[in-house]
Amino acid sequence: AIDPNFDVNREKVGEENGVDVWGPVDPPEKLGIHGTHVAVDYDICVADGACLENCPVDVFTWVDTPGHPASDEKVEPTREDQCIDCMLCVDICPVDAIDVDGS
Ligand code: SF4
Ligand code: F3S
Repeated sequence: AIDPNFDVNREKVGEENGVDVWGPVDPPEKLGIHGTHVAVDYDICVADGACLENCPVDVFTWVDTPGHPASDEKVEPTREDQCIDCMLCVDICPVDAIDVDGS
């Protein structure tokens, strides 16, 4: 599961698609955690898609991640500023790849 304390345990290494990336990263195999308020561990995500399909405010966008061992697509929390902290994505992800810092 994603480390809910990633923001203290990891270093911010850059930005992609307008969201923070928390390392370590070593693409294409290791992609880190994307996002801060809504954070997706790209190294855990298997592209289930339930988060994207069910988020009431459409926070997520598909991105291609060819060569990643878990899946060749991931969800980028491109509209994390719109998040209403409903926690649906956290609860629905089958591999616990998402942390929302809303509670
Ligand atoms: Fe969307 Fe709710 Fe997840 Fe926020 S907590 S990203 S509003 S599903
Ligand atoms: Fe990935 Fe979980 Fe969403 S596997 S696509 S973060 S439901």
